[in-house]
Amino acid sequence: MTIEILSVLPELLTSPFEHSMMKRAQEKGILTIRLHSLRKWAVNKHGQVDDYQYGGGAGMVMMCEPLANAIDELQKEAPFDEIIFMTPDGKPLEQKEVNTLSLKNRILIICGHYKGIDQRIRDLYVTREISIGDYVLSGGELAAAVLVDAIGRIIPGVLNDETSALTDSFQDNLLAPPVYSRPAEFRGLPVPSILLTGDHKKVEEWRQEQAMQRTKERRPDILDKD
Ligand code: ADE
Repeated sequence: MTIEILSVLPELLTSPFEHSMMKRAQEKGILTIRLHSLRKWAVNKHGQVDDYQYGGGAGMVMMCEPLANAIDELQKEAPFDEIIFMTPDGKPLEQKEVNTLSLKNRILIICGHYKGIDQRIRDLYVTREISIGDYVLSGGELAAAVLVDAIGRIIPGVLNDETSALTDSFQDNLLAPPVYSRPAEFRGLPVPSILLTGDHKKVEEWRQEQAMQRTKERRPDILDKD
C-alpha cells in the first residue's frame, strides 16, 4: 500500500513513521509513505499556497491551484483509491473505516492548515473527510499521523502476531479486557487467579466477561454498533 501525504509542514510527519511498526511495515515493503511539501506547487516564488478568504474574516484559506496541481501530478503516477482530507468537521474516525482503508492500494491524505482548504477542492477531489475527534488541532498533520498509524498497523503482514489486531479494542465492538504481566503480585495487588490456571477456555471466558463489563461501564454507545 502507498500513502502519499500533502502538507505545508511535512517535517512534522517524519518522526512518527520512523519507529516501531510503521518502520517495520516500510522496511518489509508492505507500506510506502511519501511526504510532499505543498510549497512545491506554490503560486509564486515566495512559496505562497494560501490567501485571504472571500467574504472577509480572519484566517487564510489554502488555495485551489497548488492543491489541484499537486493532486493532478501525483495522480499521474497512478490513480488514488481515496483522497482524504483531515478536518475537524469530517466524519469521526472509527475502527471500521480504518479496516476499510487498510485494504486500499493507494491513498492521498491532505493536511489542512489555517482556516482550511478551498471548498472547491473538497467538491472536486476529496472522497473522504475524516476527523480524529471533537477538538481542533493546529493542522491536519498530527491527525494524518494518527490515521496512517491506525491503518499501517493492521495491513496484513505488519503485526508479528496476525491475530493480535483482532483482539484490539473496537474490533468486535468491545473494549479490550485488562492485561497483566509479571510479577504475580505487585504492591499487594495479585493477578486475577484465573489467569494463572493455564485453562485457556476459562481464561477466554473471563476476558470476554471483562471486556463486556468494561464496555458497559465506559462505552455503552459502541455495544450495538453495526
Ligand atoms: N485538523 C485540525 N483538527 C483536526 C481534527 N480534530 N481531526 C482531523 N483533522 C484536524
